[in-house]
Amino acid sequence: MPPMRSAFIALSKNRTLRNFSERSAVGRRMSSRFVAGMEIDDALRVAEAVNRQGMAVTLDSLGESVTSETEAHQAADFYHQLLDSIDARKLNANISVKLTQMGLQLSPVLAESIAWKLAEHAGKLGNFVRIDMEDSSLTQVTLDIVRRLHARPEVCAAIGTVIQAYLYRSQSDIEQLLADGIRVRLCKGAYKEPANVAFPRKAAVDANYIKLSRMLLDSPLYHALATHDDAMISTAKSFAKQRGIDANRFEFQMLYGVRRDLQRTLVREGYKVRVYVPFGRDWFPYFMRRLAERPANALFLAKNFFRA
Ligand code: FDA
Repeated sequence: MPPMRSAFIALSKNRTLRNFSERSAVGRRMSSRFVAGMEIDDALRVAEAVNRQGMAVTLDSLGESVTSETEAHQAADFYHQLLDSIDARKLNANISVKLTQMGLQLSPVLAESIAWKLAEHAGKLGNFVRIDMEDSSLTQVTLDIVRRLHARPEVCAAIGTVIQAYLYRSQSDIEQLLADGIRVRLCKGAYKEPANVAFPRKAAVDANYIKLSRMLLDSPLYHALATHDDAMISTAKSFAKQRGIDANRFEFQMLYGVRRDLQRTLVREGYKVRVYVPFGRDWFPYFMRRLAERPANALFLAKNFFRA
């Protein structure tokens, strides 16, 4: 892993820097490039604007690794409010949820029961919950929970998950998810992983991404390809054309504030695009992972900050 990427990922876990940044006006201003705002209303306003540009949204109420059951329930209440607000405002939006924010590291049973209630609520509203994927120590437990929830008839249409192309295990996870009929978002993976679980070289991650994206495109389920990488996107487009797969049978997903030009181009070309819109006060780890993906962002942000 390049040293700058490792440094930003290490900083994303630094408590002191996190507390300072999340409270400071400077930090909030910097984060606004990638984070829709601090409150639910900010996120809903951004979702409306993104919808007006012809793109769907997935909302992420930022936060991970809660330390008490009360915090986990508070985080879940936020998501229940979001589901109701999405419905009331008729937004084209679903939700993305991290199980550590629902208490996974305190009790997998707690996280599963919270995720079940969210998926049940989403199902009643005809909406959908995407369970985000976190670091590799949580892959198995996350997939087990998603599989058990998906097996419940009342929520099976309302839940899906994420697979990371950098993990060696991902092909067999996708095979299993497809056999179960579970919808997948494919991404490259954003955490720092050791070489015994993840491809250390970008070229190998990219090659695996292409292989896995083809498996998803070939399946009859509706999946999502989450990437800003021109090469991944154009390869997926050509594969879909060659196989006669209609553009409305899958979607591309990108992060709020990243490659807005490419988002608009895909919409113009007739592809479905969903923007991942994070919001909330706990923005620091998310923000640092975005800098890790592209350290040039740090320079860009600093320049714009001082110019403004
Ligand atoms: P890559 O990092 O190779 O970048 C390709 C090109 O994209 C770069 O050259 C640059 O032009 C552009 N780019 C990428 N990142 C950028 C950035 N931050 N700022 C500006 N330009 C950038 N990960 C995870 O582990 N679990 C998850 O659940 C999710 N969920 C998720 C949802 C969605 C909708 C997206 C788009 C991504 C995720 N991710 C994720 C993050 C993902 O794993 C990955 O870290 C990032 O998407 C960056 O990888 P790319 O595929 O964009 O390619």
